[in-house]
Amino acid sequence: MPYKTSAHGVVHREANYFVFKIDTPTRVVADLKEEYGRDVDIIRQRVYKATEETNTNCTLEKELLPPAYRKEVQNMIEEGKTQVNKFTYKFNYNSEVESVINRQIQAEQQAAQDYLSMAVTFLHPAVSRPGAGGFFMSMYEEELGHMQDFINYQLMRGGTPAITCVKGPPDNKNLTLLSAFEKGLAMEKSVTELLEDVVKVAETANDYECADFVTAVFLKEQFKSINEMAHHVTRLTRLKDEHAIYHYDLELCKSHPYTPKIPK
Ligand SMILES: [Fe+2]
Repeated sequence: MPYKTSAHGVVHREANYFVFKIDTPTRVVADLKEEYGRDVDIIRQRVYKATEETNTNCTLEKELLPPAYRKEVQNMIEEGKTQVNKFTYKFNYNSEVESVINRQIQAEQQAAQDYLSMAVTFLHPAVSRPGAGGFFMSMYEEELGHMQDFINYQLMRGGTPAITCVKGPPDNKNLTLLSAFEKGLAMEKSVTELLEDVVKVAETANDYECADFVTAVFLKEQFKSINEMAHHVTRLTRLKDEHAIYHYDLELCKSHPYTPKIPK
């Protein structure tokens, strides 16, 4: 390297250079940079706009031809015939609705991951709250199911599901039963607000099918979850000692048993 460079906490004096030529919409560049920035094997990345070198041989005779008789235009028409028009598979599906459904996919994915991180914290032998572990593991599975439902819905409407990275799990140090259910309650409320926003966007776009799908299938379930979490928070707030919390966890264990399947 021309000079030493530090990246990801390591000083580098040697490196390899790679040049990639990418043909992509400009909106993808931010995602590429973000992804490259997280890759520890990439020390520096730069994106430059390439200027196309055109080597066009054109004669006055060709230039004077009407567009339909020009070779390049004929090629473009042929190419167009091979591509599927989006109106073939998308019917009355507004791009704003498609985008909020993608935001919901991501929200469900985030909720699944955050519940999973709480579940494994409680299931660790150093913490040993198997009931809470089982409860949050079942919440993880439920959120994964919601994510798949929205992916399937997006596909059914001819939209393109966006599968993206989600934020890292929360810091679960000092997680207690009470703080976990408080977090769960806050998560369920925020997912509900996002769902209500999907309904608003769908209604504004006159997409009654999407508004009905979210209202009928998901909103009721969300309010049930909020209610369930709120009950847990109220009961756990009353418990003051380890003995009481031990029994609370034991009760959760009965309703949400978790038996890990370890491959033989
Ligand atoms: Fe959900």
